Order: sequence, then structure tokens, then C-alpha cells
Amino acid sequence: MKIPILLVLAAAATNALSLQTFTSLFSESPDRVLKTGPETYQLASEADKLNMRRNGKKFMDVTGVISVEEALSQGIIAGAGNNNLINVFSKQLHTLKTPVPEYNYPQKAGYNKLVTSLLGKIDVDAVKANLAKFTSFYTRYYKSASGVESAEWLYAQVSELVKTVPGATVTKIKHGGWDQFSIVASIPGKSTDKVVVGAHQDSINLLFPNLLGAPGADDDGSGTVTTLEALRLVSGAIAAGDYAPYNTLEFHYYSAEEGGLLGSVDVFSRYFDQKKTVVGMLQQDMTGYTQGTVDLGVEPHFGLINDYTLAKQNAFIRVVVDAYCSIPVHETECGYACSDHASALENGYPASFLIESEFKYSAKQIHLTMDTMDRLDFEHIKEHIKLTVGYAIELAGAKNLY
Ligand code: BES
Ligand code: ZN
Repeated sequence: MKIPILLVLAAAATNALSLQTFTSLFSESPDRVLKTGPETYQLASEADKLNMRRNGKKFMDVTGVISVEEALSQGIIAGAGNNNLINVFSKQLHTLKTPVPEYNYPQKAGYNKLVTSLLGKIDVDAVKANLAKFTSFYTRYYKSASGVESAEWLYAQVSELVKTVPGATVTKIKHGGWDQFSIVASIPGKSTDKVVVGAHQDSINLLFPNLLGAPGADDDGSGTVTTLEALRLVSGAIAAGDYAPYNTLEFHYYSAEEGGLLGSVDVFSRYFDQKKTVVGMLQQDMTGYTQGTVDLGVEPHFGLINDYTLAKQNAFIRVVVDAYCSIPVHETECGYACSDHASALENGYPASFLIESEFKYSAKQIHLTMDTMDRLDFEHIKEHIKLTVGYAIELAGAKNLY
């Protein structure tokens, strides 16, 4: 009898290449400084980070802001013990950063005519086409070659959208330690104070990040195409002379969120160092999955994250939803540092995060090959686009009114 040699080899490989083996492709040296809560820090290796992610433990990797040496010398963390996950201390760190100012956010919508006319131009087919392309990269893992290719594609799209907007710039923000850059599109207003809309461009397969595919359709291809469409509409209005923002409008596409908010920590800590003012930041991460609500007969809704966000800006977001969207807001929580809004908040900037639903109904297939666009609801994405356009214009205001 012929032995099916490939099968035998495959079986042997499956046994030998256990989860542990793949994990150990990641460095075991505890050279990362993680912030695991508002006052807690720890050292960890890349292998620890992956295991923490698999166990649902959230953290910000702040090594770019606080080196291991600094963390040790400031007594934030003690020296490495036997274990990699060591010595969690409760001590306030003042590098990250400062109290969040409370601005007077609009109590009611003031640009209904302009915003409503733009919302009539939302092009769902274009949004679908963008997501089809964005999810066609094998993975957008921040340390992968295809993750750089997807960033280049995104950079080209953003550049095309703003090319007729006077004074607009698109910048590749290069990071130390990995190649996928973040992207910042900036549309200057009368004031240099910024209104920021953000999404993360990277995806991850948590089983084997550097081997398996990660289409990341919901997480966070959906937020990326949501904010791209909002950028198209706002840019179109400015280029046509129908609108000029008072505050400077920025659209951010962060790299390496899945590595512990690495890209957004870099962006917002630079803004802090440069004393930039950000009057508000809105994160769009997971905007398209509604099956979780449909299955249980729950009404489609937004999930407004109310932990580690600024309550005053959250109240303003409710105003925008009431004015422009067709679905209600439900309150929800996602725990410490679950997305890039936390990087803004940690640097003293008002931040909010509106997600596809309450946490408990949100997509469970994220971080796997199953996070595909056929599972998403583009009418729901449309609601997030309405919210994003409304937020940007209502908070940026208009030049001619000042
Ligand atoms: N999009 C998720 C966060 C999320 C997941 C929010 C499910 C709500 C429901 C994000 O990309 C993510 O995976 N965040 C990590 C933490 C991050 C700092 C490494 C998480 O939540 O575990
Ligand atoms: Zn994720």
C-alpha cells in the first residue's frame, strides 16, 4: 500500500508546530513597556504580548514613549524577575500625561443643510469597492510586507481624495521598529486647533500573526472605509467652495493598533510634545456587523463607549446622532485601551469611540480569517458615515461664521 506521504508529513508538522512553537517565533526578551490600566504598567516580551492578546488582556505598548530603562529608573516597574510578566505596580506616570480639558461642545446641530446635502451623496458601492480592495491584502499585520502594501494603497486613496482641497496635506508617519506607516490627512482651517477622526488600518490573525491571513473586514477595514467616505464628502464640499472649516480637520489611519496602539501612541505623543491642540477625537473601529443584534431581535444601534472616553464629548456625539442618523445609541464599555481613542486620551486629548453595537453583540469573528466583508451590513456602515460627517463638520465649524 502506498503511504500518503504528504498527509503523514502534514500530520507530523501539525503536531510539531504547536501554538507554542509559533508563539516562540516571537521574542521572549522582556523589552516592552506596557500600560495595562490607568495606573498599572508591566514589562513584557513580544511573545507575552501575543499571549495577552489571545487571552483578551488589553494594553498600550508605550515603549516608544517610556523606554525600559526609564521605566525601571522611575520605579514604574521593577527589574525583570523569573517570569516575563512581572511586577505590576500601581503608580501614576506623568509622562502620559495631563488632565483632559473640557471644551464647550455644541448642544445642538448648526449645519443641518450642508450636512444633510452631503449625506445624500454617500456612495455605498464605492465604500464596498474600497473594502473589497482593502481586505484583498493577505494580511495588514503591521510587521508584514502586505501590511506595507495596504498602507501604500490607502495613502494613494487618501491623497486622491484631498488633492483638490486647498492647503491639504497627506503625511506618512514613519514609526521606529516596524515598516507600516500611519497616515495623517490634514485640511487646514482658520484655526490650527484640530478635530480628528481616526481608524486603524492594520489587521491581525491572533492564531499566527505572521503566517495566517487577516482580512480584517470589520476590524478595522470597516472604520477605514467609513472615514474614507466621510473624507470624500467633506473634501468634495470644500473643493466645491460649499464649505470651509474653522478648525483644522484631520483624518488619521493608524498603523499597529493590534500591537498595542503603537501607531496612535506615536502620533498623539508627538502632538503632545509639539503642544498641538486637539479639541476632539472620534475613533471608528468596527462599524459594520449587525448579525449579533439581528439574531437576538435587538434593534440595530450604535454602541457609545463610555469608559476611558470624555463624557462631555460623548454627549455631543449623541447630539450628532439625533440630528443625522436613523438608529439610536446604546451605552457600552470596552475596557481599558481597547482602541486608538485611548492614545488620544492618555495624551490629554478629548476622545470618544462609537462602535457598531453594544460590546456584547459585536462581531466575534475578528482577528481570524473569518472576518470577511460578506458578513457586514453596509446600511449600518452608512450610519457610521453619517455620524462621521456630522461630527467633523459640527465640531470643526465653518470659517465664514467667525
Ligand atoms: N477593534 C478591536 C477592539 C474591540 C473589539 C472593541 C471588540 C469592541 C469589541 C481592536 O482592534 C482590538 O483588538 N483591541 C484589543 C486591544 C489592543 C490595545 C491590542 C482588544 O480589545 O483586545
Ligand atoms: Zn482588533
